[in-house]
Amino acid sequence: MENLEKPRLSSILNTPLHKSLMSRRTEREFSKEKPDIGLILSCLEVANSAPSGANLQPWHFTLIQDTQIKKQIRQEAEKIEYDFYHKRAPREWLDDLQFLGTNHHKPFLEDAPFLITVFYCPVIQNEGEQKKTYFPIESTGLATGFLLTALHEAGLSCLTYTPKPSCFLNSIYLRPKTD
Ligand SMILES: Cc1cc2nc3c(=O)[nH]c(=O)nc-3n(C[C@H](O)[C@H](O)[C@H](O)COP(=O)(O)O)c2cc1C
Repeated sequence: MENLEKPRLSSILNTPLHKSLMSRRTEREFSKEKPDIGLILSCLEVANSAPSGANLQPWHFTLIQDTQIKKQIRQEAEKIEYDFYHKRAPREWLDDLQFLGTNHHKPFLEDAPFLITVFYCPVIQNEGEQKKTYFPIESTGLATGFLLTALHEAGLSCLTYTPKPSCFLNSIYLRPKTD
């Protein structure tokens, strides 16, 4: 299908977009210097433009800068991670993680000036009624990809971090249990 708004290229390779995406790396240490919050909000707006099932945008992003909440998230996450690294993780998973040198210590959760939590929503509120969404996990993954791209384009570093289970975040943020 043709996109009439854009001239078609012969290749996407070596374009500014490709070069920029190739230079993206996950960072695990952060300076405490705070970027402009407006810049981050504009990246979240880009994320919201991602495609989603029936255009219901079944995601919820939360931006956190409060030091006490960051501390609480770190404490909860490190409990889960201790359990993961010392009891729950299958040998193969630990072997696959070895090259990263990660462990249950997660100082970045307090060092990073901002945390963005990502919730997918199987159900949303629509005009006061609960409404089922379609492909919420897939749609939220796409929106998160847009977010990572926007943050990178904005010159910001980030780490995709996935504590498992992550339901402690629902309690901290007072999100519904379904998210
Ligand atoms: C879904 C997902 C979950 C991830 N979870 C973690 C994580 O919990 N901790 C971590 O340090 N990195 C995590 N990462 C980052 C990956 O380790 C990283 O993307 C990968 O090693 C490739 O490196 P790059 O992002 O620099 O290209 C995650 C990435 C993705 C996409």
